[in-house]
Amino acid sequence: MESGIAIEAENLTKTYGDFTAISGINLAVKNGDFMGLVGPNGAGKSTTLKAITGLLKPTSGTVRISGIDISDHRHAMEHVGCVIETPEPYPGFTPTEVMDYIGRIYGMSQREIAIRSRDVLESVKMWEWRNKSISGFSKGMRQRIVIAQALLPNPDIIILDEPTSGLDPRGMVEMRRVLQNLKTRDRTLLISTHILSEVSELCGSVTMIRDGVVIASGDVSTLIHSRGYSGVTLTVRTVSPISKETLKDLSGMEGVTNAEHKGECTAVIAFKGTPEQQASLTKALFDCGAGILSINETGATLESMYMELTEDGKP
Ligand SMILES: Nc1ncnc2c1ncn2[C@@H]1O[C@H](COP(=O)(O)OP(=O)(O)OP(=O)(O)O)[C@@H](O)[C@H]1O
Ligand SMILES: [Mg+2]
Repeated sequence: MESGIAIEAENLTKTYGDFTAISGINLAVKNGDFMGLVGPNGAGKSTTLKAITGLLKPTSGTVRISGIDISDHRHAMEHVGCVIETPEPYPGFTPTEVMDYIGRIYGMSQREIAIRSRDVLESVKMWEWRNKSISGFSKGMRQRIVIAQALLPNPDIIILDEPTSGLDPRGMVEMRRVLQNLKTRDRTLLISTHILSEVSELCGSVTMIRDGVVIASGDVSTLIHSRGYSGVTLTVRTVSPISKETLKDLSGMEGVTNAEHKGECTAVIAFKGTPEQQASLTKALFDCGAGILSINETGATLESMYMELTEDGKP
């Protein structure tokens, strides 16, 4: 076992007849890390998560959870809470009954069940509904119940397939808060989502898949900056104006696509290049004698990277 790795998938492949749903997926989530799994519809996110949680047997490849092979399912999943493809919570039951049932499966005491039920049902904002039948609940309410179910045993590792889909805007924000809270409790999280801002907000790392293969994986901030996806805009505020000549010189630097004044002591530079080229540009700015007050970088987003990577014919 590689220490410090909570979830590790190696070379995961799943085929259905001659159709390959996922092919050679590698993924590692460190203990305490939050990873977002993103990709277009049909990319293979749910298939990957099902293989990781042992809900389906991959055609080839291995999965280890906290170092334990998923073939030892019971043992490997002991500290994992997961919700894959919105299973229906038990209709006809109330949230309290469901929590009681799940708690007993996990061997929790009645006292533990009572404390944890309240904690998780409050966190997903369903405490007031605890004694109502789930049959009458909306899709979003049922979604909250299944998430509460997954969190009930206080798992160290949480794996969720599109946890915010089906929720209204307030529900989405609240669910993100619930997940964010897990960070302070040192939990490890792997979620699939279509909402890229959710990944930027919640996750330290990201794995992008397309047509069943990984097209990018790693630290979110390093990834979006390392390849200059769609570029960044640098707004430079100076004590005295940057001269026209200097600005022209800057425009000619590698990676600079445009440089212009925006007000007397503000210049806006469009940049798309390597980190080394950006470092040279930053040095040139500091050396130009105008007195740098601030350099504000905007525009490098997961969204621009995603758009570029999932464009037709690429990569
Ligand atoms: N049981 C199955 N039999 C045949 N093909 C399947 C089966 N399950 C999934 N697939 C196919 O595998 C591919 C990946 O599906 P998967 O559900 O993993 O995608 P996804 O990334 O989760 O998509 P979405 O964003 O729509 O949830 C799809 O083309 C899907 O049609
Ligand atoms: Mg899916």
